[in-house]
Order: sequence, then C-alpha cells, then structure tokens
Amino acid sequence: MVHGMTHSRTRISKAVIPAAGLGTRFLPATKATPKEMLPVVDKPAIQYVVEEAVSARLSDVLMITGRNKRPLEDHFDRNYELEEALTRKGDESRLARVRESSDLATIHYVRQGDPRGLGHAVLCAEPHVGDQPFAVLLGDDLIDPRDPLLARMIDVQEQHGGSVIALMEVDPAQIHMYGSAAIVPTGDRDVVRVTDLVEKPDTGQAPSSYAVIGRYVLDPAVFEVLKKTEPGRNGEIQLTDALRELSGRDVHGGPVHGVVFRGRRYDTGDRGDYLRAIVRLACERDDLGPEFRSWLRSYVTEEMQE
Ligand code: G1P
Repeated sequence: MVHGMTHSRTRISKAVIPAAGLGTRFLPATKATPKEMLPVVDKPAIQYVVEEAVSARLSDVLMITGRNKRPLEDHFDRNYELEEALTRKGDESRLARVRESSDLATIHYVRQGDPRGLGHAVLCAEPHVGDQPFAVLLGDDLIDPRDPLLARMIDVQEQHGGSVIALMEVDPAQIHMYGSAAIVPTGDRDVVRVTDLVEKPDTGQAPSSYAVIGRYVLDPAVFEVLKKTEPGRNGEIQLTDALRELSGRDVHGGPVHGVVFRGRRYDTGDRGDYLRAIVRLACERDDLGPEFRSWLRSYVTEEMQE
C-alpha cells in the first residue's frame, strides 16, 4: 500500500483554527479583545478564515482558544437581542449580516490552557479530529477568496496521501520570519515534494526562499510526532519541527507535499500588512470600493506633491 493513503477514503471535513495567541503586536487594542476579532473592513479577521474553511467544504471547525477569547464564541453564536432590534426596524440587510456568522459552520472550541506553541495548539485538536486527515488554518494569514488554496491542497492530499503544506516564494531577506522548506519538483507545476523544513532559520541557514504559509492538510499521524517533539524555536513546540519529521523517507504520516501559492495573501498579524489588507479589500468591495478608491486616489496624489 502506498504510504499515507490509508485515511484518504472519506473526504476531509474538519478544520482546526488555532486562536490562542496573545496578539502582543497589536497592544493596546488586544489588551481585552482577541486579535482575531480585529476588523478587516467590517468583519473580524477570524470570520474570513472560517469562511475560507467553509468554501473548501470544511463544515466542522474546531477553534483552539485560550483565556480572553469569549468574544470569539459570541461572534459565531446567535445574538437574539440584536436580531430582534433589527427585525423591529425592518433592517433586513444588517439582520442577514448578523446571522451570517452564526449560520456559517458548526464551530467547536477547546482551550489550550498553557500556550506552548503552534505544535502544542494543534495537538489539543487530537480528541476532536480522531484518525482522519484534517486542515489547519492560521488566523493571521488571510487568503484572498478569489485565489483558492485550501481546496487545491485537499485535492493534492487525496492524490498523494500524507500531509500537505502551503508554500510561497518570499524575498530571501524575509525568510527568517517563516518556516522554510527544502523542495524538489513534481510533475505538477504547483506541487513540490518537501524534503526538509526549518522553522525561522538564522541568516544563511534557510534551505530555500519558499516560506510556509498558514494552511496545512495533515495526516493524523502528526499527533504522535507532536507528542515527542521537543520545544524548538522560541522554546515552543513547533508544528514545523513535527512536519520535518514527517517529511523523512517512508515515515508514517508522510510524505509531505507543498502546494506553491502564487495568489494574494495578507498577513493580518503584522500592523503594516494589516493596514494594506484593509485598503485592498475595501477598494475591491462593491459597496465601499468606488467612493473609497476615488478618495484614495486624491489622497495619494496630494501626498506625492508634498
Ligand atoms: C507560524 C509557523 C511558521 C509559518 C507562519 C506563517 O509562525 O510556525 O512556520 O511560516 O506561521 O504565517 P508564526 O507566524 O505564528 O510565528
């Protein structure tokens, strides 16, 4: 039997979204509000991520949360008071927007008591996930809905078995901020075989300028590996280190393939990128875009004259 093919008969249906991070880069905004709730235009960042999971037909979502994350649960739950007030006003369009987030998917929550890293957060999903391959979506990465990535990764997992990560070519000067992958090509232009991984490599140590971005389709064998993974970079249990293990020859849970993403990705975990994401997404909106674009054009023209 081909390695890793054992689990791929039923279609992947579970998505895990780690959301236990402290969001220190956005303090003081994130002092009492989870960073996942920061609005990108008029929707909290986390809602884009859940919508992406749903559009890849992952209808069972598990969020790994921590302290101070109650607003996340409230956001994806009904708000009867608000719904009633909008109904009384006859404000159908806002009512629909309020209901959108609670009707999206079945969302489950588990707490990561002790934040010991992304690998540890993923391990908290084991009882819920069981023995089927599953997806992991990191909340800081927004993938433009017009450039679907996850559905392609699921196809690749179904085709090759094992685990699949998302890779993006970045400026070599930026690779130290990511996991970096050693890769070999396959017959598919957008698919590579991953032969090694390094989490946030020191200067000159990166195996390539292909960065791991926050989408994964994992074989459940990753849980056993995570249990044995020692703390790595920043003293945290790193998912990248467990995947490195799976990328070895003939390892159960491998091989690891990478889908090379060439679409639009926004990193809402970084303040500059967060602002860029808002501007881009606002420009593209049918309702806000036309007016916002024309304001932006004159603002930029004025700025250039100074
Ligand atoms: C995590 C992963 C890293 C990956 C990055 C993508 O790091 O550990 O391998 O490149 O997400 O956003 P973080 O940014 O959470 O430190």
